[in-house]
This record gives sequence, C-alpha cells and structure tokens, in this order.
Amino acid sequence: MPGESPPLRLFFALWPGPPLQAALAAWGRRLQRELGGRPTRRENIHLTLAFLGDTEARRLDALRGIGERIDGTAFELTIDRVGCWPHSGVAWAGSREIPDALRSLALRLREKLLQESFPIEQREFAPHITLVRKALCAPLHWQPGEALNWVVDRLVLARSELGPEGSSYSELAGWPLGS
Ligand code: 2AM
Repeated sequence: MPGESPPLRLFFALWPGPPLQAALAAWGRRLQRELGGRPTRRENIHLTLAFLGDTEARRLDALRGIGERIDGTAFELTIDRVGCWPHSGVAWAGSREIPDALRSLALRLREKLLQESFPIEQREFAPHITLVRKALCAPLHWQPGEALNWVVDRLVLARSELGPEGSSYSELAGWPLGS
C-alpha cells in the first residue's frame, strides 16, 4: 500500500565488543579452513536471544517498551567450544555451561514477546554465535585451547538488512543489564 513502510527484519541479541568479535572472527577463520563455507564478518558477530523476522515498523515502540522493561542482570559467559550443525551448515562458538542468567533473560524476553503477540519460535533456546555459514560439517579436529570470557552487560534490538555483501546488522536500541 502506498505510504506504508516495508517490514523490518528484527531480532534481540547480545553484541560482543570489537576485541571479542576479533577473537571470535579468528576462530571463524580457523573453522573455515577445516569446513569451508563463508565466515561471519567481524562486526556481524553476535548471539541471538529471540528472532522476530519481518515486523511491521509501527510495532517498534512495543519492542522498545519490552527491551526497556526487561529487568536483566549482567553475567559472564565463557565461550569455550565450537561446533557445527549439519542441518543448517552453521559452524558456531558457544559455552559448555549456559549461565542461568542467560537462560532466564532469553526466557523472560520470549515470554514478553508472546504476551504482546509477537510470533516467536517455540524451538528450544540453543545459544550460539554463528561463525561460518554454508559449512560442510564434519567431526572437528580443532577446539579452542583457551576460552574467551565475555562480560555481557547489554541487550540490543537489531535489524538485519540484505546488502551486496550479505547481511548487515544495525542496532536500533540497546539497554544495560544491571549488576
Ligand atoms: P543463525 O546465526 O543461527 O542463523 C540474524 O539473522 C540472527 O537471527 C542470526 O543470529 C540468526 O541465527 C537468527 N535467525 C535467523 N533466522 C532465524 C530463525 N528462523 N529462527 C531463529 N533464529 C533465526
């Protein structure tokens, strides 16, 4: 319809700072050597909490309200393993132990989204950081020798846009997680 803005592809995520993104990008290059595929660009490296998909722009205020009201606490995430999912061709980094604060943040966010009728996938939350797409998954010879520690203290509402160089992400809003 003329005058109506196109939908926005949105998701809530946790975004590491540039040094951690650089360290994870190096893991991605290591994985790509083993599995092929296309590594995630450094600045795109993130962890998705809730994927909304195409969303009407007029619903942005409701999403900002949800982000504002999430009463999350900051936590430490130890990133200490890599894996590959053959069904999606995604090679990823993640944690052997998922902190309660991370599970609880994702759960409360999803609950609030459902309460406000945002369609959220019912799939179980499997926190991961995508490092390579179109990977040809095989048993991995490499696992990180040293873990990366991430102090997670911010929640982000992000937009995904498809450009000539693949997806690019921008932050639409962000909220601190308390101590
Ligand atoms: P992925 O990295 O595992 O593909 C932006 O696209 C973010 O949203 C990515 O982190 C992506 O996860 C996630 N995402 C895309 N489509 C999704 C879907 N249908 N369900 C859940 N997460 C999705």
